[in-house]
Amino acid sequence: MNSTFQAIKWTDSTLRLLDQRRLPHTEIYLEFGDAPAVATAIRDMVVRGAPAIGITAAYAVVLSAQQHRAAAGGDWRERLQQDIERLAAARPTAVNLVWALQRMQRCLAAAGDAPVSALLEEAKRIHQADIDANVCMGGFGADLINKGDSVLTYCNTGSLATGGYGTALGVVRSAWAAGKLNRVFAGETRPWLQGARLTAWELTQDNIPVTLITDNAAAFLMQQQQVQWVITGADRVAANGDVINKIGTYQLAVACRHHGVKMMVVAPRSTVDLDMPDGLQVPIEQRAESEVLELAGQRIAASGARAWNPAFDVTPAGLVDYLVTESGVIEAPDRVKLAALRCD
Ligand code: MRU
Repeated sequence: MNSTFQAIKWTDSTLRLLDQRRLPHTEIYLEFGDAPAVATAIRDMVVRGAPAIGITAAYAVVLSAQQHRAAAGGDWRERLQQDIERLAAARPTAVNLVWALQRMQRCLAAAGDAPVSALLEEAKRIHQADIDANVCMGGFGADLINKGDSVLTYCNTGSLATGGYGTALGVVRSAWAAGKLNRVFAGETRPWLQGARLTAWELTQDNIPVTLITDNAAAFLMQQQQVQWVITGADRVAANGDVINKIGTYQLAVACRHHGVKMMVVAPRSTVDLDMPDGLQVPIEQRAESEVLELAGQRIAASGARAWNPAFDVTPAGLVDYLVTESGVIEAPDRVKLAALRCD
């Protein structure tokens, strides 16, 4: 179990987040005492990754309850609700954010007039359950991998993106610990460079050797038969098995199918949205043009050029070989197989 750092920490009455915009060069925690500041931090990518933003939002509801319940006046529930709506709107694509807020709202409804401790317990439960799910998925995913296989992972899906251990990176951790992996490749993940900055940092902290590739080297890597697996996380999995994940995942899945490389998607049940019929209906976050036009605040694109910067894309279910959740492995996911997740 990776324990070298914790990206999300609850300390007494405040929330501390490892500022992922500053990694890998600077390890600095920012401290938060109110929910609107946390919503801004989620939007600005201080914390990112689908499960991590859900867990963060859950703790932000505790901050909101602390602040508004303590203040004079009978409208604290209304203010808390406003904070919840602000948090929900911070990023639109990952379903974990809304999922966690709905859980907190159910807890609030049952908690009466002194909700803070009940909400804190619920946020901690959400956090711990995510770590447990990741360790479980790590084992399921690693079981699929043959000794001597090499893998390509994408974006950052590790302890930084989750409550701990990671989804796709949890599988990499488990498979590495089992002595199965030959090489681990990571895609840089333009434009925000989650792979180069964050995944490479996490893996080196764990002494797992990592080789970075530019995103446009992936198909050639496959053609050279250097990887047997692409392993990614998801920001949302629709009811028909479509996978919404970091922009670039779709082209990896297309290249995988062409080259006979297996595509494994690793996501907890909190990422599976059975109320979303298919992936094309999921709102895709558009981020600032500057993320593409600039690097570290320095313009790199020709002056006058514009950018199109969707943060996520949709991989059709038919391109996914395995979907791993904490409930087990689904081979060739489809609507019928995913429906079973509703009742297990
Ligand atoms: O924009 P980000 O960095 O929040 O995107 C994160 C991803 O796309 C991850 O691959 C996804 O959240 C799965 S991680 C557990």
